[in-house]
Amino acid sequence: MMKNLLSMDKVSTEEIMTILQRAAEFEAGAKPQLEKDYYVANLFFEPSTRTKTSFESAERRIGATVIPFDAAFSSVLKGETLYDTVKTIQQSGIDAVVIRHKEDAYYEQLLQGLDVAIINAGDGAGQHPSQSLLDLYTIFKEFGRFEGINVTIVGDVSHSRVAKSDATALKKLGANVQFVCPPQWQGEFEAHHNWDQLLEQSDVIMLLRVQHERNAAYEGFTVEGYREVYGLTVEREKQMKDQAIIMHPAPINRGVEIDSELVECERSRIFAQMKNGLYIRMAIMEYILKGRN
Ligand code: CP
Repeated sequence: MMKNLLSMDKVSTEEIMTILQRAAEFEAGAKPQLEKDYYVANLFFEPSTRTKTSFESAERRIGATVIPFDAAFSSVLKGETLYDTVKTIQQSGIDAVVIRHKEDAYYEQLLQGLDVAIINAGDGAGQHPSQSLLDLYTIFKEFGRFEGINVTIVGDVSHSRVAKSDATALKKLGANVQFVCPPQWQGEFEAHHNWDQLLEQSDVIMLLRVQHERNAAYEGFTVEGYREVYGLTVEREKQMKDQAIIMHPAPINRGVEIDSELVECERSRIFAQMKNGLYIRMAIMEYILKGRN
């Protein structure tokens, strides 16, 4: 049984489907099944609106006690290491920590000798497994399967932990994943550098945020130029298949990777993704905490 949630390459297809099934049960009103008191803390060393509030809401809804932690007022500012911070929190009787951190694979140093479950809420440009699971849940609710679904991921692939987690999981589940991005942002992936036939063929178009805070802009990058070649514009949306959906992990740069008019259009699932995230995170926390019995 999975003890931590770190990276989608470490989550089996059976575990994915178990979490999706439990999320569906929570969405239908099922009660949580925790039989003892659990304590959790959310350690966010990078900004977050969705993931942090969603985890906290999920933790409270399944009956866990949430111990507040504010990175901006913690002893990290006095130079305490992440390992020492988490070990300190463990001494307060915490069962699980949800961590977002700017270092890729920060969790590797925490796996040496700590007895606390680690749920990765995003590591640098590495992985974002809870976002991936809510994206999978959104796609599964829409199409009832993954096999043969055409997913096109568009944007800053090299800096995107969402793209990496989703590509890993979707390919494992039998979906066809394609990338569209400028050559400077394709990282280790093969990618298209224009939309070609992909607008007409895709069941899911997943847009990625241009990550200005990670110095993503390349020589010659302009917002207008990016939107013109890679943005999902009102004109491009008209070429999408009837049943195709639009996704974006958010936050959104309106008017850059997606035209503002499309954010809440009929085929957009962007805000539905956030709601799905609550049920997915309830399922994740219940699964991980029950595994500590
Ligand atoms: N999608 C996502 O991770 O959003 P936040 O940065 O607001 O948590």
